[in-house]
Amino acid sequence: MVGVSRQNALQGDFFTEFHSSPQQTVADVQKLLDYDPDAIILNAGQIETEIGEGGVPLTEMTESMNRVNYTWPAVVVLEVAKLKRERPLDVIAIGSIADGSPSPFAPVYHAGKIALHYFWLGVGPTVYYASNKMIRMRLYRPGAIKGPLAWTPVNRLNRKGYRIRKKRMDSAPEAEQVAKDIMRWIENGQSWVGTWNEPLSFQFFKHLHAMLPNFYYRVLMLGWRKGSKFMAPD
Ligand SMILES: NC(=O)c1ccc[n+]([C@@H]2O[C@H](COP(=O)([O-])OP(=O)(O)OC[C@H]3O[C@@H](n4cnc5c(N)ncnc54)[C@H](OP(=O)(O)O)[C@@H]3O)[C@@H](O)[C@H]2O)c1
Repeated sequence: MVGVSRQNALQGDFFTEFHSSPQQTVADVQKLLDYDPDAIILNAGQIETEIGEGGVPLTEMTESMNRVNYTWPAVVVLEVAKLKRERPLDVIAIGSIADGSPSPFAPVYHAGKIALHYFWLGVGPTVYYASNKMIRMRLYRPGAIKGPLAWTPVNRLNRKGYRIRKKRMDSAPEAEQVAKDIMRWIENGQSWVGTWNEPLSFQFFKHLHAMLPNFYYRVLMLGWRKGSKFMAPD
């Protein structure tokens, strides 16, 4: 179990070897492939820790997030696809059930995850058959997990919106529980896309977005007016 991080060192007993990597370039991918892995789990994810005036996303943050959340996993799998494998290799992207519908409260994060999901499922069949069924692109979509990343949208929410988010966070599972579920799913090996329970509200908005995009846009406008601290401060 090789733990990979942009940090120079990591404490913990959840890996047998540590590899420091900026996770940016093709050369970074090659260093990972030198381990000759059986599975690669692309777990890194970035949220908007800073936002601009009026809640507008910042350019640098958007570029960095798109790299971590979408471009890096895509580059990894495209390099993996060049390998001549004689034993199976699973490349597992960690997505999000927030992929289904855009939101003004976490716009860059959702956009990156949607891009990741489309890339994974769109490129997956080609890579599978081109590799003689040796390379499988699989996707796991966690729900909210207790922890700092789950609080993605709070820097745009007013107090009312914050309370709604808090309710959801209070009932979210611990990271360890989700990690165990992900490992069970990976090892079972039967399904291509794994999903943590999706809240009904997410399913509703996802379908509304797909069926009535113009109306959905208006709903988002209303949500922003009511729930954002830039439009309806406490
Ligand atoms: N938390 C949730 O509610 C939730 C819900 C759905 C999906 N997910 C997804 O699950 C995965 C893990 O999330 P988590 O909640 O476990 O978050 P986490 O504990 O904060 O882990 C995110 C990891 O990504 C790394 N990372 C962030 N920015 C990076 C960058 N620029 N370059 C390289 N590494 C970077 C972080 O490294 P550092 O330690 O160096 O900061 C951290 O190790 C992510 O893909 C996330 O999108 C999370």
